[in-house]
Amino acid sequence: MKIVVIGGTGLIGSKLVTKLREHGHEAIPASPNSGVNTLTGEGLADILKRAAVVVDVSNSPSFDEEAAMSFFNTATRNLIQYELAAGVRHHVALSVVGTDRLAQKQPSDWPKTIRGYFRAKLAQEKLIAESSIPYSIVHATQFFEFFKSIADTSSDGTTVRLAPVLIQPMAADDVAAAVGRVATGAPVNEIIEVGGPEQFRLDEFIRQGLRFGNDPRTVVADATAGYFGVEVDERTLVPGKDARLGEVHFQNWLIHSATSVGSGAAATPASASATAH
Ligand SMILES: NC(=O)c1ccc[n+]([C@@H]2O[C@H](COP(=O)([O-])OP(=O)(O)OC[C@H]3O[C@@H](n4cnc5c(N)ncnc54)[C@H](OP(=O)(O)O)[C@@H]3O)[C@@H](O)[C@H]2O)c1
Repeated sequence: MKIVVIGGTGLIGSKLVTKLREHGHEAIPASPNSGVNTLTGEGLADILKRAAVVVDVSNSPSFDEEAAMSFFNTATRNLIQYELAAGVRHHVALSVVGTDRLAQKQPSDWPKTIRGYFRAKLAQEKLIAESSIPYSIVHATQFFEFFKSIADTSSDGTTVRLAPVLIQPMAADDVAAAVGRVATGAPVNEIIEVGGPEQFRLDEFIRQGLRFGNDPRTVVADATAGYFGVEVDERTLVPGKDARLGEVHFQNWLIHSATSVGSGAAATPASASATAH
């Protein structure tokens, strides 16, 4: 089956392309690097010929509300238009567990709040649901690869302040596997939640990650600290009881990452640490 992966060069996209090919599918990565741009439409008509499924795991280069809104609205509208013309039978998109909740939360007075990013993801989901193409939206929890970014954004000198709310993060490998299973199945025309195999308190998750990488920062549980400038409560970040769970545990992932990059867990992939959601 021909499956076009929009954002197929990214963290999740590159893993997804590999997994789909391992299962015998014709998986085609598509992104500006390979001459396909969903913002301009460049390359879309050609790449979508004979495609049965399109998986959108692209991301906005900016998390500012206006930029992200413009990215997801324009890219999704273009994709839908070209998919309709090409006869694509299933549109799959990756979004974030709690997007609807995070989009509605009050932003704190923190200047870098990313509530706007979640409003943009919500707009993307709405366009998909309202189109006539059968779809599946995968809501994933925070990637393990993203832990250092959470720590960095919540740091004030050597102190990291985080609300002790629940989080159920997962490995990017598990995200890609879950998206791959959805992409090769029938469209569900709704949201499917996926999460990691264990829940943590947010402060404890980050503390474990930093400690493993011998990072000297101190993590403090602070109920008033938001999540990237958005107020969160106990269950804002965690999926419901029907979520499909990944297999990789955080401690094993830390050990594996340390051995595969050779410089400790603090050396998370650049693409992950630059991502703020
Ligand atoms: N971080 C988290 O914890 C988390 C949790 C749940 C869900 N998600 C969602 O996961 C998705 C993927 O995240 P990721 O970290 O894998 O992303 P990423 O590594 O930042 O990759 C982004 C991809 O988007 C592509 N792209 C950018 N602009 C494009 C355009 N105009 N046309 C086509 N492709 C374009 C990039 O292509 P180039 O390489 O060519 O620039 C790249 O392949 C996001 O939508 C995000 O909302 C993230």
